[in-house]
Amino acid sequence: MSNAPLRVVHDGAPATARPVLIEIRALAKTYRTQDGAVPSLRPLDLDLGEGEFVAVVGPSGCGKSTLLKLVAGLIRPTSGEVRIGGRPVVEPPDDVGIVFQNPVLLAWRTILRNVMMPAEVRRLDRAAHLARARALLATAGLSDFENKYPWQLSGGMQQRAAICRALVHDPRLVLMDEPFGALDALTRERMNLELQRIHHETGKTILLITHSIPEAVFLADRVVVMSERPGAIAAIYDVALPRPRTIDQMGNPVFADLARRIRGHFYPQGQLAPGPSPQAHLD
Ligand SMILES: Nc1ncnc2c1ncn2[C@@H]1O[C@H](COP(=O)(O)OP(=O)(O)O)[C@@H](O)[C@H]1O
Ligand SMILES: [Mg+2]
Repeated sequence: MSNAPLRVVHDGAPATARPVLIEIRALAKTYRTQDGAVPSLRPLDLDLGEGEFVAVVGPSGCGKSTLLKLVAGLIRPTSGEVRIGGRPVVEPPDDVGIVFQNPVLLAWRTILRNVMMPAEVRRLDRAAHLARARALLATAGLSDFENKYPWQLSGGMQQRAAICRALVHDPRLVLMDEPFGALDALTRERMNLELQRIHHETGKTILLITHSIPEAVFLADRVVVMSERPGAIAAIYDVALPRPRTIDQMGNPVFADLARRIRGHFYPQGQLAPGPSPQAHLD
C-alpha cells in the first residue's frame, strides 16, 4: 500500500492543505416538526480550502442537503456555525452559486433570462453580466438556445443552463446538491468533464453532494463520507489522482481501490460500517 495516494482522516480532523475559505464548526441541525424533533446533523467540523473541490457522499436522509443548505445560509443551524472568508453565514451570501438536483428554471423566462437571475437579484451591472451569461452559455454549448424556454431543452441542457446561472455572478463558492442525479449516464459523464473543466479554469471552491461514488472520486480533491442520520463525518479521503482526470481513469487501480474503500462504508444496503480507527493513515 505504500505508494497508494490514499489517506483517511477521521472525525474531528477538518484540515485542508490550502488557505481556508469555509470553516464549519460544531455545526448541528435538529428540525422541529409537528411530530417532534428530527435530529439531522450531529456536530460536524470541516474546512474547505480556497479552490478546493470537496465531494460529500452518504446514505439517503443522512443530512447532506441539510449541510449544504446550512453552508448556503438558506437555513439556520441549531448550534455551531459556518464562516465563509471569516464571516459568519447568517443569510445567503452574495458570492455563492447553488445548483440543485432539479434545474428549477423559471418556465416563463428564456434560458438567457434565467441565467441572468442572480445578477438581476443582486442588481449587478447588466451589460457586463449579459456578456458573461452569453459567454457561459457558449461554453455550455447553449448559444443557440438562449432565447428558448426551459421546456424546449433536454434535461441535460437545462442542468447546464442551471450551472451557468450558478456561475453568472462569478461566485467564489459553488454549492451543488446532486446536480446530475436525474441525468442519463452518458450525459452525466459529460457533465462531470465539464465541471472538472470549470473547476480547473476558474479555480472556484466547489462543494458537491452526490450519490455517485465514482463521480465523487473523479471530481474531488477530498471525499467526505457521512454516516446515517443524524449525519456525522465518518471519513475523509484525499484523492491524490493527477488532474485533469479522464473518464478512462475510472478503471485504473488507484481509482478503483479508492472507490471500493468508500463503498466499503456502506453495507449492507446503505448501512454504515465502522470506519478505520480515528486518524488512521492508509498511505
Ligand atoms: N424541513 C425539514 N423538516 C423536517 N425534517 C427535515 C426537513 N428537511 C430534512 N428533514 C429530515 O432531515 C433528515 C436529513 O435530510 P436531508 O438533509 O435532506 O438528507 P439527504 O440530503 O442526506 O438525503 C431526513 O431525515 C429528513 O427527513
Ligand atoms: Mg439531499
